[in-house]
Amino acid sequence: MVIGVAGGTASGKSTLVKRLHETFAREEVVGLCHDFYYKAHDELTFEERTKLNYDHPESFDTDMMIEDIKRLKSGLPIHHPVYSFVDHNRTKETVLVKPAKVIIIDGVLILENKELRDLMDVKIFVDTAADVRLGRRLLRDVEERGRDMNSVLNQYFSTVKPMHDQFVEPSKKYANLIIPEGGFNSVGLKLLIDNIKTMLQELNSGNE
Ligand code: CTP
Repeated sequence: MVIGVAGGTASGKSTLVKRLHETFAREEVVGLCHDFYYKAHDELTFEERTKLNYDHPESFDTDMMIEDIKRLKSGLPIHHPVYSFVDHNRTKETVLVKPAKVIIIDGVLILENKELRDLMDVKIFVDTAADVRLGRRLLRDVEERGRDMNSVLNQYFSTVKPMHDQFVEPSKKYANLIIPEGGFNSVGLKLLIDNIKTMLQELNSGNE
C-alpha cells in the first residue's frame, strides 16, 4: 500500500507522517520524502544554489523517485539519495531502504505529477492556512536549515508562494482526503488511521 501525504510548505505533513509511522510495526512501513530527490547541482556555486526555485516541479528528480517506489513495490531494496537543505545540494550519502507492506511518501508537490500519484492507494492533502505555514517555516528554516529571516521571507514571496498558488493548491483536487492541520488534527487522524487499518486488512485477506 502506498500512502501519499501532500500539502503546502510547513503545513504539518511530517507530523502526520510520523503519526502514521507509529501506527505500524517498524518492519511493516518505510517512508520516502520527495525532498530526498531534489536534483543535485554540483555545477553551481553555493551562492547560485541559494537563488534556485525549489518549489517548481522541475526542481525534483521525480522520475528517480517513481523508479524507487516501483522497485520497492516489486519487493526490491533501494538506495535513496540524501539532500542537505543547509548546502542546497545532494550529499554523497545514500540510504538503503528495504521493501515493506506500507510505503508512506510525502512532499509539497507529490500530487502534482500524474505518474507519481497513480502509484498511490491513498492520497492525502494537509490543508493549513498560509499565515500559519509562513510562521512555522520562518522558525523552522532559521532554526534547522541555516537560514536568516530576510532570506526566508524573500524566498517565500519570490518563489514559494507563487509556486504554491500555481502547482500545490491546484493539486489538492486529486486528494482522496483533505485534513485540516494534518498531524495536529487528532480526530481526523484517528479516522484516517482506522480506515487505513481496515484497508490493509482487506488487502491482506485478498492476498490470502
Ligand atoms: N527548500 C529550500 N531550500 C532547498 C530545497 C528546498 O528552502 N535547498 C524548500 C522549498 O522551498 C520547499 C520546502 O523546502 O517549499 C519543502 O519542504 P517542506 O514541505 O516545507 O518541509 P516538510 O518538513 O516536509 O513540511 P511539513 O512542515 O509540512 O512537515
